[in-house]
Amino acid sequence: MDHFDCRDGVLHAEDVSLETVAAEVGTPAYVYSTATLTRHYRVLAEAVAAWPDALRRPLIAFAVKANGNLAVLATLARLGAGADTVSEGEIRRALAAGIPADRIIFSGVGKTDAELAFAVTAGVRQINVESRPELDRLAAVAAGLDRTVEVAMRVNPRVGAGGHAKITTGGAADKFGVAPEEALALYAEAAAASHLQPVGLACHIGSQITDLEPLRAAFGVLREMTQTLRGQGLAVTRLDLGGGLGVPYVGGAATASPADYAAMAAAVMDGLEVDIVLEPGRLLAANAGVLLTRVVHVNVRPDGRRFLVLDAGMNDLMRPALYDAFHDLKPVRAMPGEATPHDVVGPVCETGDTFARDRPLPPVQAGDLMVFTGAGAYGASMANEYNSRRLVPEVLVDGDRHALVRARPDWDEMLARDRVPEWLRQGDSPLSAPR
Ligand code: LLP
Repeated sequence: MDHFDCRDGVLHAEDVSLETVAAEVGTPAYVYSTATLTRHYRVLAEAVAAWPDALRRPLIAFAVKANGNLAVLATLARLGAGADTVSEGEIRRALAAGIPADRIIFSGVGKTDAELAFAVTAGVRQINVESRPELDRLAAVAAGLDRTVEVAMRVNPRVGAGGHAKITTGGAADKFGVAPEEALALYAEAAAASHLQPVGLACHIGSQITDLEPLRAAFGVLREMTQTLRGQGLAVTRLDLGGGLGVPYVGGAATASPADYAAMAAAVMDGLEVDIVLEPGRLLAANAGVLLTRVVHVNVRPDGRRFLVLDAGMNDLMRPALYDAFHDLKPVRAMPGEATPHDVVGPVCETGDTFARDRPLPPVQAGDLMVFTGAGAYGASMANEYNSRRLVPEVLVDGDRHALVRARPDWDEMLARDRVPEWLRQGDSPLSAPR
């Protein structure tokens, strides 16, 4: 459920008209709903609150990669969320948004020594180790800082799942994690290292998973490994089940509910006595955001093909170009009239900048406002400035309040990031003025 509804014929985010937002901020722009973020967090929190006592203190660590805006993170922080992070930048964002270090998980296959040192010094709760070379480097970094670090071994359970091959992470050929047998060996090695404290196991098998079976299989691998390690006298007090639960990108699409997911996890882990970490990203944020865009024009070719050209491009919302992802597209002002097929495209100079082919749409015209729904996760966080288009701004709505939570850079800001060396600043060129 979300809080984007039509009122008096105009789409609103909670109590704020998207026409008002467009007039103030311009387009394209992301708009997020606090009530929706809150609702999604609470639904999951309530589902895990129903767990038996043996699954202690579940931590919901929001995957910052889904939406790293500080205002979004601060919203979730106030609800009690932790953060799943994959870079120093994401750790810095989580801390800046008020998420305490002891609720921050650090994952990722290519953490540098500098990033590991940063995380150790910041005192993050847990570092999820993804390979033998990383374990060796972390042991050295922790020893160098004389700090003991709690680690979880990220297991590659050889169960891949997800909405697209590019977002599947748990398959044997995927770069993530270590195979179960190797993870057992590394766990024992970590236990013997002077500055590492292995506390548990982690897995994350993919994203936009709509069926619980692959998750059940992966969690079963973690359960079995936990028992094996305990049988060897090693402590396993924490299991990190990753993220991955999918969302309905169109109303009524079949996806497993958070309640079913939580019940399944509890059933697999029954009686284990472990703290559980969850790392949802999309589940909390996707349907809490829309991308607001304006129709540049409708180009009807002589052969009848209708191109709906928007002012948002693949640089603002990459998912359709990267994963053939479906995002619903709606006019902001309710529009009567028969729907006809349109090819929906952006202004970027690539054929990949196509959001949809043959999408039935009402008779929209130049200047009309529209939204892509389900854009609150992996939307703004993946946006870029390709074609020298300014980075898309973000707006957070809360009831009848709204605030610009990331401004569109002005042109000078964009150009000032580049530096032109002295030898090219000659003569009357505008580049000769010092920057
Ligand atoms: N934990 C780890 C270790 C992850 O790698 C990810 C996502 C998550 C948690 C959160 O997964 P979620 O709950 O959001 O499914 N850009 C792609 C999605 C890539 C996800 C990568 N890892 C997309 O737009 O679909």
